[in-house]
Amino acid sequence: MGKDVIIACDFSSAEEVYGFLDRFQARPYVKIGMELFYAEGPQIVRELKQRGHKVFLDLKLHDIPNTVEKAMRVLSGLDVDMCNVHAAGTRKMMEAALRGLTREDGSRPLLIAVTQLTSTSQEQMEHDLLIDQPMEQVVAAYAEHAKEAGLDGVVCSPLESPAVHQRLGQGFLTVTPGVRLAGDAAGDQSRVTTPAKAKELGSDYIVVGRSITAAEDPAAAYERCLKEFCG
Ligand code: C5P
Repeated sequence: MGKDVIIACDFSSAEEVYGFLDRFQARPYVKIGMELFYAEGPQIVRELKQRGHKVFLDLKLHDIPNTVEKAMRVLSGLDVDMCNVHAAGTRKMMEAALRGLTREDGSRPLLIAVTQLTSTSQEQMEHDLLIDQPMEQVVAAYAEHAKEAGLDGVVCSPLESPAVHQRLGQGFLTVTPGVRLAGDAAGDQSRVTTPAKAKELGSDYIVVGRSITAAEDPAAAYERCLKEFCG
């Protein structure tokens, strides 16, 4: 299972996404986020699937268990390959999400958890969320809850992959953004690693946005990521 490069298609319209993907001969695994999904609706997922792409739908659900279960049933019907929830929604919510995702034949998309958003600082966690434990411990505990609920893995930095695997097993997936080809600008990411380094650290999937989407030759940048990470 796993070891793939997922391209973060952070575009604002379907037209832009298709224009971008038409530049590839391959059919890469793509990540669709809230902006595009809310703008274009489920049709964007249907179309990408029809074109032969695997789809990680990054909507980070967080609501009462019953609502999440029903929403996940819809996403499973759309045949997404991977989707996610906030572990903060509780183990009960994560279990409900899994129930909703599981199809009659027992198959289901992969489900991964967001532990703490990387945009949340220790100070914000203490003052706004009233959680007064060190970030590292909170992230580790939330990842453990996700595993207990039966989820497949977590989103984390490649630098955190070794600790997650050590604590929760090699089979518990780490899906890792914060990846840059050597020489590319870090942009707003504070800690970045190359695809080769992510491989060395044991990431299962890397999520790459701007190093591919903003490249002069996106297909060549994608091939470089594949070669470094999967080769
Ligand atoms: O362009 P870049 O490679 O930084 O894009 C990374 C993608 O991964 C974006 O879609 C971003 O929202 C997402 N992401 C992230 N950090 C997280 C979770 C998701 O960068 N902790």
